[in-house]
Amino acid sequence: MCGITAYIGYRDAYPIIINGLKRLEYRGYDSAGIMLYDGESINLSKTKGKVSILENKIKEEISDSGVIGIGHTRWATHGIPNDINSHPHISQSGNLAIVHNGIIENYSALKHELIDRGYSFQSETDTEVLINLIEEIKKTEDVKLGKAVQIALNQVIGAYAIAVFDKEKPDEMIVAKLGSPIAIGIGKDNQEFFIASDASPFIEYTKDAIYLEDGEMAIIKKGREISIRKLKDDSLIDANVQELQLNLEQIEKGGYEHFMLKEIHEQPQAIIDTLRGRLLTDKGIIKISGLENNMKRFLNAERIIIVACGTSWHAGLVAEYIFEDFARIPVEVEYASEFRYRNPIITEKDIVIAISQSGETADTLAAIKLAKSKGAFVFGVCNVVGSSIARENDSGVYTHAGPEIGVASTKAFTTQITVLTLIALRLSRAKGTMTSADYRLYLQELELIPKKIKKVLETDEHIKAIAKKYLLSTNCLYLGRGYNFPVALEGALKLKEISYIHAEGYPAAEMKHGPIALIDDRMPVIVIATSKGHYEKVVSNIQEIKSRSGKIIAVVTEGDTAVREIADHVIEVPDTEEALTPLLTTIPLQLLSYHIAVMRDCNVDQPRNLAKSVTVE
Ligand code: M6R
Repeated sequence: MCGITAYIGYRDAYPIIINGLKRLEYRGYDSAGIMLYDGESINLSKTKGKVSILENKIKEEISDSGVIGIGHTRWATHGIPNDINSHPHISQSGNLAIVHNGIIENYSALKHELIDRGYSFQSETDTEVLINLIEEIKKTEDVKLGKAVQIALNQVIGAYAIAVFDKEKPDEMIVAKLGSPIAIGIGKDNQEFFIASDASPFIEYTKDAIYLEDGEMAIIKKGREISIRKLKDDSLIDANVQELQLNLEQIEKGGYEHFMLKEIHEQPQAIIDTLRGRLLTDKGIIKISGLENNMKRFLNAERIIIVACGTSWHAGLVAEYIFEDFARIPVEVEYASEFRYRNPIITEKDIVIAISQSGETADTLAAIKLAKSKGAFVFGVCNVVGSSIARENDSGVYTHAGPEIGVASTKAFTTQITVLTLIALRLSRAKGTMTSADYRLYLQELELIPKKIKKVLETDEHIKAIAKKYLLSTNCLYLGRGYNFPVALEGALKLKEISYIHAEGYPAAEMKHGPIALIDDRMPVIVIATSKGHYEKVVSNIQEIKSRSGKIIAVVTEGDTAVREIADHVIEVPDTEEALTPLLTTIPLQLLSYHIAVMRDCNVDQPRNLAKSVTVE
């Protein structure tokens, strides 16, 4: 979590850094801070709260001049969110400044050693320990900043992406990474460099970027080639400069009030992008190169284990139904955080599919490393190109959803399901577990999904009206069966994370085993009751809720009459094949959560206590 950004060049650093922090704010928004170097002094301003608060504070506190600066937006780990614990942190001498994303696990022992050597600390953070450790090494070992950073990082246990500045070497910036992402944008003729947790802060300035790998350090000097070294053995590494595909439009709100709403509405296009070049309906072909290249492994797999967190885990649950149904391969879906710590049984005959939007989730990354160490083949489903998870996998596929900035995951979920459906269909063809007629039908239906989602999006005003009736609820139940059970879980997660209403998702038939005790006339129950998939059973569940005075909001197939008679509200989605219904039924649940959260005056894009990419375990 946390976003870091830095600039060294010839332009005013302040606007670049403050705008960069706004773009990185999705990574954490407990506090924010900036250090600017004006050629003589280090000017520091930091505050609890969001970047907008920092912006106002800076105007009152410091000069915003200088062509070098570093900035940070924080998701608190060590120390409560307050001004003092905010980054950047300055070393005891006042010469060094650092921004850090990650956790230094052995900071306490290092801190005691430094206290014994005469250091005192202003904050409770692990980062202040790191910058003073660097200073102490620089002083006692009489080495340059880069060397001091390298020695310090070899003493550190934990994760980091850091940018370090030394007033005594103002043309230089040191950047290093282990476990947390960092990108370096390269300006024309190396006259300027941009550093950030992702490329969004600098896309209007350069398309050339280097993504540091774990255990690497970059020494960045104005007007000179970047030198990249391995932290462990100091060996030089060739810089791999990539051309960024991102554009400014993709990371702006484009007229929508919130990123989440924009991203909900982007789903038809996002799915078209996911399917492009992969679903060739006319030819009856599905082409995913990462899969084709490893087809033998997939066909011989005895089991697929899916590892993921949060919404991506829900996509994994949908995939479990699809893979078992279509391709007849046994599937287990694991929370990455549990899987990594429970000595799981993994063999070389297993395929592990890791799903992650950000590609940076610490638990998912650790689960991948564990699976690989036990000989399993790891296949990734990621959205962010070049992310840590995308690089760590043996092979994989990108979802191509485009940047997802709202903390609540929306288009990532539907594109993950889309890609996983394509994989399952391709495997079913190769294994002969699906008839040609069914296969063709699915291909055709999949192609129609974007249009059908557009139709669901047209019901927005109706959903908003329903949201108005339930915005004061304190609890909410979500029920679904089969393919739509994970959708119920996802609906509940969406509501709780952005509106802070307690919500639970259940398989509809589990109601009778406990949750039904919660039903009364104040309990809204959202039921997914599409015509294909245990319809009659779900209708019976709805009756059971009704007879206990629960309020029913049902997501039904267009033209449904039976549920309409008993439910308080119905939201229609177009008909499709059962396995594809999650791609449609998810949409009204996203919109319902969104509207309730907006009406409750919640910060939809940056809900409290959360961050978009969870790079700490
Ligand atoms: O980037 P990832 O897909 O690995 O992230 C996993 C979860 O942190 C994420 O899905 C989270 O649950 C979302 N906030 C849900 O909306």
